Amino acid sequence: MYLSLRFRAFAAGAALLAASAIAQAQQALPNVMILATGGTIAGAGASAVNSATYAAAKVGVEKLIAGLPELSKVANVRGEQVFQVASESMTNANLLALAKRVSQLAKQPDVDGIVITHGTDTVEETAYFLTLTVRTDKPIVMVASMRPGTALSADGALNLFDAVSVAGSKDARSKGVLLTMNDSIESGRDVSKNVNIKPSAFSSQWGSLGMVVEGRNYWFRAPVKRHTVNSEFDIDKIDALPPVEIAYGYEGVSATAIDALARSGIKALIHGGPGNGSVADRIVPRLQAARAEGILVIRASRVPDGFVIRNAEQPDDKYDWVVAHDLRPQKARILAMVALTKTSDTKEMQRIFWEY
Ligand code: DGL
Repeated sequence: MYLSLRFRAFAAGAALLAASAIAQAQQALPNVMILATGGTIAGAGASAVNSATYAAAKVGVEKLIAGLPELSKVANVRGEQVFQVASESMTNANLLALAKRVSQLAKQPDVDGIVITHGTDTVEETAYFLTLTVRTDKPIVMVASMRPGTALSADGALNLFDAVSVAGSKDARSKGVLLTMNDSIESGRDVSKNVNIKPSAFSSQWGSLGMVVEGRNYWFRAPVKRHTVNSEFDIDKIDALPPVEIAYGYEGVSATAIDALARSGIKALIHGGPGNGSVADRIVPRLQAARAEGILVIRASRVPDGFVIRNAEQPDDKYDWVVAHDLRPQKARILAMVALTKTSDTKEMQRIFWEY
């Protein structure tokens, strides 16, 4: 009887010690906020073989977290559903609301890192916008998936685990906004979606920043363009984004789109031309007319890689145009909107396109 009492007292003490050790270990883990916006990572298909046919933006953040108990091994996570949209339907209002929420959370001492789940279609644009405007050196990690969680070989669970692991890592600080997909850690500025149906869809012409494997980060390069705490832009001081649109160049292009956009009240027009940002001879005068109306003309290229050389295909100095450097048209639009919150001077705009 006496022994069993002692044994039970010992067992109770041991259980208490174990519980407090677990609690201490949990407290030692970083605090990571998961902001959910929709996309395929929150998608659901009718059957496991539906890896490409499914409904995006269906599963809530709490269910995403509950479905991945392994997250508790790398961080204390809390979830917040900012909105639930397929990312092709994101608006400037969504972008502003998300960035302001990220900025607010990044200021909290009990938040060590932030993960944003997002659709793959436009995650590259949101990532660039955040890296330009959120003044924090804490890790902000975007994450998406090419297949819904209901599909065979779904990629969302590991992508999300990796994102939370990176967001809780001290060595992920001061690297700008990141994207974790398919084991890679990509720069939010440089990354684009280059394949529309493979888990290895995302890459940058300048290479990944590193990889994350089993909760450990392996870094191989660091961003050189200005971002986050070194940016001159601050989401806390931006309440609206000026209208900027894109028109593409291609064989047989007419001026219909450009003329209509120029009459629509836009502040800048991104011309996504073939080659090194080439402009058809019949289109040059229409862009000059837009410039004369005070619209900034920014020459980008529809070619995925490389960068537009100033005064090469067109006399940009003479026409008072800007070149988009290595930014694809959709990213050039993001930077032009942000830059226009501060300046419409062409020389200043070109400096900004060199530096960001
Ligand atoms: N509708 C697309 C989006 O929300 C689905 C693509 C995806 O998230 O992978 O971006």
